[in-house]
Amino acid sequence: MSRYKYLLGDARLEAARLRAQAELWDPVSHDLFRRLGVGHGWKVLEIGPGQGSLHLELRRRVRGPVDCVEPSPVFSSRLRASCRRDGFGAGRMWETALIDTPLPRTWYDLIFARWVFLFLPDPKAHLRKLVRALKPGGLVAIQDYHRDTLAMIPRPPEWDGFISADRAFFASQGGDVSIGGRLPTLYGRVGLKVEETVATIKTGRPNSAVWRWLSWYFLDIMHRYAKSPPFTARDAARLRRQWLAASREKTSLMIGPTLLDVVGRKPSS
Ligand SMILES: C[S@@+](CC[C@H](N)C(=O)[O-])C[C@H]1O[C@@H](n2cnc3c(N)ncnc32)[C@H](O)[C@@H]1O
Repeated sequence: MSRYKYLLGDARLEAARLRAQAELWDPVSHDLFRRLGVGHGWKVLEIGPGQGSLHLELRRRVRGPVDCVEPSPVFSSRLRASCRRDGFGAGRMWETALIDTPLPRTWYDLIFARWVFLFLPDPKAHLRKLVRALKPGGLVAIQDYHRDTLAMIPRPPEWDGFISADRAFFASQGGDVSIGGRLPTLYGRVGLKVEETVATIKTGRPNSAVWRWLSWYFLDIMHRYAKSPPFTARDAARLRRQWLAASREKTSLMIGPTLLDVVGRKPSS
């Protein structure tokens, strides 16, 4: 089994953050599942289910087990316990990094991942692996960020440095925080036909769920971003003060990163 190395980890606070984030975003994924027509008997694989709210939703839709790849022993054991409770049976669960997982060939109708590809080095190699595991005519559906819309209004002076630090943080382990926008081209390169790209952008004022979602993640991680020059600990401290001041102004506005749904189909022959 590969050692679990993942930027955000699986500590209790991260698990709680994932749950709150899922509450805000799960309806967008449910819409995607509805558009795809995920239904009874589909063979589905989810990559990186984390706290597992969408995994349980996929099981409800196929009315049976769903396979998954989840390298965190904490997340996977919690998910196993939830799956025992819903009565849909045990799916295969690989506790390994996707790249090391011995997936079956030409097996799945749908492979789904939300907020996983932004962490992965060499996304093309990972996509090739998924294509091999799909049946002819099967679908890959990935939801991930196109970060470029992320903004706070009024714009704090440290914003540009902060945005570069955000990119550098994910790049430090080979990921791309804005992978969503590259997926359609990458799909083409691995032989998937792009069927859909749908964007969702959430905006919010102080005290809204969107403001809380973005503040929770970014204020928590700011001290780690401060290690990505040219963004410094001083910039991080200043931005934190401005962020908290903006949170007290009812006219402040946060525009979130775009979530892109990118769906591709493996040709039938
Ligand atoms: C930000 S969380 C997203 C969790 C969940 N998909 C969601 O939407 O709430 C990223 C997930 O990807 C998993 N992950 C990280 N690196 C991975 C890899 N190399 N292969 C498979 N899963 C990975 C993590 O363990 C975690 O469950």
